[in-house]
Amino acid sequence: MWPTDPTALELNINQKERPLSWKQQTFLADSAMGAPVYRRVKSLLACNLAFRTAGNHNGIKPWLKPAFISKQRLPLPSQSTVLARSYCQHTAQKGLVFRQMFEPISSTYTYLLADCETREAVLIDPVLEEVERDAKLVKELGLRLLYAANTHCHADHITGTGLLKKVVPGCRSIISKDSGAKADITIQEGDRIEFGRFHLEARATPGHTDGCMTFVLNDHSLAFTGDALLIRGCGRTDFQQGSATRLYKSVHEKIFTLPEWCIVYPAHDYKGMTMSTVDEERRLNPRLTKSMEEFVIIMSNLNLPKPTHIDTAVPANLVCGIQGD
Ligand SMILES: [Fe+2]
Repeated sequence: MWPTDPTALELNINQKERPLSWKQQTFLADSAMGAPVYRRVKSLLACNLAFRTAGNHNGIKPWLKPAFISKQRLPLPSQSTVLARSYCQHTAQKGLVFRQMFEPISSTYTYLLADCETREAVLIDPVLEEVERDAKLVKELGLRLLYAANTHCHADHITGTGLLKKVVPGCRSIISKDSGAKADITIQEGDRIEFGRFHLEARATPGHTDGCMTFVLNDHSLAFTGDALLIRGCGRTDFQQGSATRLYKSVHEKIFTLPEWCIVYPAHDYKGMTMSTVDEERRLNPRLTKSMEEFVIIMSNLNLPKPTHIDTAVPANLVCGIQGD
Protein backbone atom coordinates (compact mmCIF):
# COMPACT_ATOMS: atom_id res chain seq x y z
CA MET A 1 0.00 0.00 0.00
CA TRP A 2 1.09 3.53 -0.68
CA PRO A 3 1.75 5.53 2.51
CA THR A 4 -0.45 8.42 3.53
CA ASP A 5 0.27 11.43 5.71
CA PRO A 6 -0.54 15.16 5.48
CA THR A 7 2.79 16.14 3.92
CA ALA A 8 2.86 16.34 0.19
CA LEU A 9 6.12 15.15 -1.31
CA GLU A 10 7.32 15.51 -4.79
CA LEU A 11 9.73 12.82 -5.82
CA ASN A 12 11.67 13.55 -8.92
CA ILE A 13 13.09 10.48 -10.49
CA ASN A 14 15.70 11.17 -13.04
CA GLN A 15 15.52 8.82 -15.97
CA LYS A 16 19.18 9.31 -16.70
CA GLU A 17 20.22 8.13 -13.25
CA ARG A 18 17.82 5.22 -12.92
CA PRO A 19 15.78 4.41 -16.01
CA LEU A 20 12.36 2.95 -15.34
CA SER A 21 11.38 -0.13 -17.27
CA TRP A 22 8.22 -0.15 -19.34
CA LYS A 23 6.66 -2.46 -16.76
CA GLN A 24 7.49 -0.07 -13.94
CA GLN A 25 6.13 2.92 -15.83
CA THR A 26 2.94 1.03 -16.66
CA PHE A 27 2.55 0.19 -12.98
CA LEU A 28 2.91 3.86 -12.16
CA ALA A 29 0.34 4.85 -14.76
CA ASP A 30 -2.10 2.30 -13.37
CA SER A 31 -1.40 3.44 -9.83
CA ALA A 32 -2.30 6.97 -10.83
CA MET A 33 -5.94 6.05 -11.50
CA GLY A 34 -7.73 6.97 -8.34
CA ALA A 35 -4.91 5.96 -6.00
CA PRO A 36 -3.59 8.38 -3.37
CA VAL A 37 -0.36 8.58 -5.28
CA TYR A 38 -0.17 10.02 -8.75
CA ARG A 39 2.46 11.23 -11.06
CA ARG A 40 3.15 14.17 -13.22
CA VAL A 41 5.07 13.87 -16.41
CA LYS A 42 7.39 16.85 -16.23
CA SER A 43 9.22 16.26 -19.45
CA LEU A 44 8.23 13.61 -21.92
CA LEU A 45 11.58 13.73 -23.65
CA ALA A 46 13.64 13.36 -20.47
CA CYS A 47 11.03 11.04 -18.94
CA ASN A 48 11.40 12.68 -15.56
CA LEU A 49 8.54 11.51 -13.43
CA ALA A 50 7.19 13.46 -10.50
CA PHE A 51 5.18 11.77 -7.80
CA ARG A 52 3.03 13.28 -5.16
CA THR A 53 1.89 11.50 -2.13
CA ALA A 54 0.19 12.57 1.00
CA GLY A 55 2.82 10.82 3.05
CA ASN A 56 6.43 9.89 3.61
CA HIS A 57 8.23 7.75 1.10
CA ASN A 58 9.37 4.95 3.38
CA GLY A 59 6.98 2.45 1.87
CA ILE A 60 7.72 3.30 -1.72
CA LYS A 61 9.12 0.47 -3.78
CA PRO A 62 12.95 0.32 -4.03
CA TRP A 63 13.09 1.37 -7.63
CA LEU A 64 11.13 4.49 -6.72
CA LYS A 65 13.71 5.76 -4.23
CA PRO A 66 13.99 9.40 -5.14
CA ALA A 67 17.04 11.07 -6.55
CA PHE A 68 15.66 14.28 -5.13
CA ILE A 69 12.85 14.98 -2.70
CA SER A 70 11.31 18.39 -2.21
CA LYS A 71 8.62 19.21 0.32
CA GLN A 72 7.12 21.83 -1.93
CA ARG A 73 3.34 21.71 -1.85
CA LEU A 74 1.79 21.55 -5.29
CA PRO A 75 -1.87 21.79 -6.30
CA LEU A 76 -3.48 18.45 -6.98
CA PRO A 77 -4.34 17.94 -10.67
CA SER A 78 -7.78 16.72 -11.65
CA GLN A 79 -8.24 13.07 -12.50
CA SER A 80 -8.80 13.99 -16.16
CA THR A 81 -5.44 15.78 -16.14
CA VAL A 82 -3.79 12.68 -14.75
CA LEU A 83 -5.46 10.52 -17.40
CA ALA A 84 -4.38 12.88 -20.16
CA ARG A 85 -0.82 12.92 -18.87
CA SER A 86 -0.78 9.15 -18.60
CA TYR A 87 -2.02 8.97 -22.16
CA CYS A 88 0.69 11.38 -23.38
CA GLN A 89 3.28 9.24 -21.65
CA HIS A 90 2.00 6.13 -23.39
CA THR A 91 2.10 7.72 -26.83
CA ALA A 92 5.62 9.00 -26.11
CA GLN A 93 6.70 5.51 -25.08
CA LYS A 94 5.40 4.16 -28.35
CA GLY A 95 7.30 6.79 -30.31
CA LEU A 96 4.06 8.16 -31.71
CA VAL A 97 3.60 11.85 -32.40
CA PHE A 98 -0.06 12.68 -31.93
CA ARG A 99 -2.05 15.90 -32.15
CA GLN A 100 -5.78 16.63 -32.07
CA MET A 101 -6.71 19.92 -33.73
CA PHE A 102 -10.08 21.67 -33.86
CA GLU A 103 -11.90 23.70 -36.51
CA PRO A 104 -14.62 25.72 -34.76
CA ILE A 105 -17.04 26.52 -37.60
CA SER A 106 -17.95 22.90 -38.36
CA SER A 107 -16.63 21.60 -35.00
CA THR A 108 -14.35 19.22 -36.86
CA TYR A 109 -11.34 17.45 -35.37
CA THR A 110 -8.26 16.88 -37.48
CA TYR A 111 -5.69 14.38 -36.25
CA LEU A 112 -1.97 14.28 -36.95
CA LEU A 113 -0.09 11.05 -36.34
CA ALA A 114 3.57 10.42 -37.02
CA ASP A 115 6.42 8.09 -36.24
CA CYS A 116 8.92 10.09 -34.18
CA GLU A 117 11.82 8.08 -35.63
CA THR A 118 11.08 8.04 -39.35
CA ARG A 119 9.12 11.35 -39.18
CA GLU A 120 6.52 9.90 -41.56
CA ALA A 121 3.08 11.36 -40.87
CA VAL A 122 -0.59 11.12 -41.76
CA LEU A 123 -3.38 13.66 -41.30
CA ILE A 124 -6.95 12.52 -40.76
CA ASP A 125 -9.88 14.74 -41.82
CA PRO A 126 -8.10 18.03 -42.56
CA VAL A 127 -10.36 21.05 -43.13
CA LEU A 128 -9.77 23.48 -46.03
CA GLU A 129 -9.76 26.59 -43.82
CA GLU A 130 -7.09 25.10 -41.52
CA VAL A 131 -4.63 23.82 -44.13
CA GLU A 132 -2.15 26.58 -43.34
CA ARG A 133 -2.21 25.65 -39.64
CA ASP A 134 -1.77 21.95 -40.36
CA ALA A 135 1.02 22.44 -42.90
CA LYS A 136 2.82 24.77 -40.48
CA LEU A 137 2.65 22.21 -37.68
CA VAL A 138 3.93 19.46 -39.95
CA LYS A 139 6.87 21.67 -40.90
CA GLU A 140 7.57 22.80 -37.33
CA LEU A 141 7.70 19.21 -36.10
CA GLY A 142 9.99 18.19 -38.94
CA LEU A 143 7.54 15.62 -40.28
CA ARG A 144 7.13 14.20 -43.77
CA LEU A 145 3.42 14.15 -44.52
CA LEU A 146 2.75 11.05 -46.60
CA TYR A 147 -1.04 11.04 -46.58
CA ALA A 148 -4.08 13.21 -45.94
CA ALA A 149 -6.97 10.81 -45.37
CA ASN A 150 -10.69 11.39 -45.01
CA THR A 151 -12.90 9.13 -42.94
CA HIS A 152 -15.74 9.88 -45.39
CA CYS A 153 -17.10 12.39 -47.89
CA HIS A 154 -18.06 15.17 -45.51
CA ALA A 155 -21.22 17.24 -45.90
CA ASP A 156 -20.53 20.01 -43.39
CA HIS A 157 -17.13 21.29 -44.49
CA ILE A 158 -14.75 21.13 -47.43
CA THR A 159 -11.80 18.81 -47.00
CA GLY A 160 -8.27 20.19 -46.96
CA THR A 161 -6.69 17.23 -48.73
CA GLY A 162 -6.57 18.82 -52.18
CA LEU A 163 -4.93 22.01 -50.96
CA LEU A 164 -2.54 20.08 -48.71
CA LYS A 165 -1.28 18.23 -51.77
CA LYS A 166 -0.39 21.58 -53.28
CA VAL A 167 1.35 23.07 -50.25
CA VAL A 168 3.01 19.90 -48.92
CA PRO A 169 4.95 18.22 -51.74
CA GLY A 170 4.66 14.43 -51.74
CA CYS A 171 1.41 14.30 -49.78
CA ARG A 172 -1.21 11.97 -51.26
CA SER A 173 -4.94 11.94 -50.59
CA ILE A 174 -6.84 8.89 -49.35
CA ILE A 175 -10.54 8.09 -49.13
CA SER A 176 -12.60 4.90 -49.30
CA LYS A 177 -13.49 3.42 -52.66
CA ASP A 178 -17.13 3.16 -51.55
CA SER A 179 -17.32 6.93 -51.01
CA GLY A 180 -17.33 7.44 -54.77
CA ALA A 181 -14.90 10.33 -54.32
CA LYS A 182 -11.66 10.86 -56.20
CA ALA A 183 -8.34 10.59 -54.39
CA ASP A 184 -4.81 9.47 -55.11
CA ILE A 185 -5.45 6.26 -53.18
CA THR A 186 -8.83 4.63 -52.60
CA ILE A 187 -9.03 2.06 -49.83
CA GLN A 188 -11.30 -0.75 -48.70
CA GLU A 189 -11.90 -2.84 -45.60
CA GLY A 190 -8.65 -4.26 -44.27
CA ASP A 191 -6.31 -1.93 -46.15
CA ARG A 192 -3.49 -0.30 -44.24
CA ILE A 193 -2.26 3.28 -44.16
CA GLU A 194 1.38 2.87 -43.20
CA PHE A 195 3.59 5.56 -41.66
CA GLY A 196 6.95 4.53 -40.28
CA ARG A 197 6.63 1.69 -37.78
CA PHE A 198 2.89 2.26 -37.44
CA HIS A 199 -0.17 1.72 -39.57
CA LEU A 200 -3.84 2.55 -39.50
CA GLU A 201 -6.16 -0.34 -40.26
CA ALA A 202 -9.17 0.65 -42.36
CA ARG A 203 -12.48 -0.71 -41.12
CA ALA A 204 -15.53 -0.09 -43.25
CA THR A 205 -18.22 1.44 -41.02
CA PRO A 206 -21.02 2.52 -43.41
CA GLY A 207 -24.36 3.86 -42.29
CA HIS A 208 -23.79 7.62 -41.99
CA THR A 209 -22.55 7.43 -45.60
CA ASP A 210 -21.77 4.46 -47.83
CA GLY A 211 -18.06 5.12 -47.70
CA CYS A 212 -17.44 5.75 -43.99
CA MET A 213 -14.22 4.31 -42.62
CA THR A 214 -12.89 3.95 -39.10
CA PHE A 215 -9.10 4.08 -38.87
CA VAL A 216 -7.63 1.95 -36.08
CA LEU A 217 -4.02 2.22 -34.92
CA ASN A 218 -2.15 -1.06 -35.33
CA ASP A 219 -2.10 -1.85 -31.58
CA HIS A 220 -5.84 -1.04 -31.29
CA SER A 221 -5.20 1.68 -28.73
CA LEU A 222 -6.75 4.47 -30.83
CA ALA A 223 -9.71 4.51 -33.22
CA PHE A 224 -10.62 7.43 -35.46
CA THR A 225 -14.30 6.87 -36.01
CA GLY A 226 -15.26 9.74 -38.29
CA ASP A 227 -19.01 10.31 -38.04
CA ALA A 228 -19.90 6.66 -37.45
CA LEU A 229 -19.44 6.96 -33.69
CA LEU A 230 -19.40 10.31 -31.93
CA ILE A 231 -18.98 10.93 -28.21
CA ARG A 232 -22.34 9.86 -26.74
CA GLY A 233 -23.81 10.09 -30.22
CA CYS A 234 -23.41 9.11 -33.86
CA GLY A 235 -23.60 10.61 -37.31
CA ARG A 236 -27.02 11.29 -38.79
CA THR A 237 -28.48 8.82 -41.27
CA ASP A 238 -31.01 10.96 -43.13
CA PHE A 239 -28.92 11.93 -46.19
CA GLN A 240 -25.91 10.77 -48.24
CA GLN A 241 -26.98 7.11 -48.45
CA GLY A 242 -27.63 7.08 -44.72
CA SER A 243 -28.98 3.90 -43.15
CA ALA A 244 -29.63 3.51 -39.44
CA THR A 245 -29.52 -0.30 -39.58
CA ARG A 246 -26.18 -0.29 -41.39
CA LEU A 247 -24.75 2.24 -38.95
CA TYR A 248 -25.90 0.21 -35.95
CA LYS A 249 -24.27 -2.95 -37.34
CA SER A 250 -21.09 -1.09 -38.27
CA VAL A 251 -20.59 0.34 -34.81
CA HIS A 252 -21.43 -2.88 -32.98
CA GLU A 253 -19.41 -5.14 -35.27
CA LYS A 254 -16.41 -2.98 -36.14
CA ILE A 255 -15.94 -0.52 -33.25
CA PHE A 256 -17.53 -2.02 -30.14
CA THR A 257 -15.53 -5.20 -30.77
CA LEU A 258 -12.29 -3.28 -30.21
CA PRO A 259 -10.68 -3.50 -26.73
CA GLU A 260 -12.61 -1.64 -24.06
CA TRP A 261 -9.60 0.59 -23.38
CA CYS A 262 -9.34 1.68 -27.01
CA ILE A 263 -9.63 5.47 -27.15
CA VAL A 264 -12.25 6.80 -29.54
CA TYR A 265 -11.52 9.99 -31.47
CA PRO A 266 -14.49 11.20 -33.56
CA ALA A 267 -14.59 13.63 -36.49
CA HIS A 268 -16.69 16.12 -34.52
CA ASP A 269 -17.84 17.16 -31.11
CA TYR A 270 -20.34 19.91 -30.41
CA LYS A 271 -20.20 19.89 -26.59
CA GLY A 272 -16.53 20.45 -25.85
CA MET A 273 -15.60 16.80 -25.42
CA THR A 274 -12.39 15.55 -26.98
CA MET A 275 -12.29 11.78 -26.66
CA SER A 276 -14.05 8.72 -25.33
CA THR A 277 -13.34 5.01 -25.05
CA VAL A 278 -14.95 1.90 -26.45
CA ASP A 279 -15.98 0.95 -22.92
CA GLU A 280 -17.66 4.32 -22.28
CA GLU A 281 -19.59 4.27 -25.53
CA ARG A 282 -20.67 0.66 -25.06
CA ARG A 283 -22.12 1.61 -21.66
CA LEU A 284 -23.15 5.24 -22.02
CA ASN A 285 -23.97 6.06 -25.64
CA PRO A 286 -27.66 7.02 -25.42
CA ARG A 287 -28.43 5.75 -28.93
CA LEU A 288 -26.16 2.77 -29.49
CA THR A 289 -26.87 1.07 -26.17
CA LYS A 290 -30.44 0.57 -27.40
CA SER A 291 -31.75 -2.32 -29.52
CA MET A 292 -31.48 -1.91 -33.27
CA GLU A 293 -35.22 -1.36 -33.53
CA GLU A 294 -35.13 1.41 -30.93
CA PHE A 295 -32.05 2.92 -32.61
CA VAL A 296 -33.84 3.09 -35.98
CA ILE A 297 -36.79 4.89 -34.35
CA ILE A 298 -34.48 7.36 -32.61
CA MET A 299 -32.60 8.11 -35.83
CA SER A 300 -35.78 8.59 -37.85
CA ASN A 301 -37.11 11.12 -35.36
CA LEU A 302 -34.12 13.44 -35.04
CA ASN A 303 -35.67 16.05 -37.37
CA LEU A 304 -32.34 17.78 -37.94
CA PRO A 305 -32.05 20.75 -40.30
CA LYS A 306 -30.24 20.27 -43.60
CA PRO A 307 -26.50 20.99 -43.19
CA THR A 308 -25.79 24.56 -44.27
CA HIS A 309 -22.96 23.76 -46.63
CA ILE A 310 -24.01 20.36 -47.98
CA ASP A 311 -24.70 21.62 -51.50
CA THR A 312 -21.19 23.01 -51.89
CA ALA A 313 -19.25 20.69 -49.56
CA VAL A 314 -20.26 17.32 -51.01
CA PRO A 315 -19.49 18.16 -54.68
CA ALA A 316 -16.15 19.66 -53.61
CA ASN A 317 -15.29 16.70 -51.40
CA LEU A 318 -15.90 14.30 -54.27
CA VAL A 319 -12.78 15.82 -55.82
CA CYS A 320 -10.50 16.27 -52.77
CA GLY A 321 -12.03 19.64 -51.95
CA ILE A 322 -10.69 21.38 -55.03
CA GLN A 323 -13.02 21.71 -57.99
CA GLY A 324 -11.36 21.08 -61.33
CA ASP A 325 -8.39 19.13 -59.92
FE1 LIG B 1 -20.24 13.46 -42.03
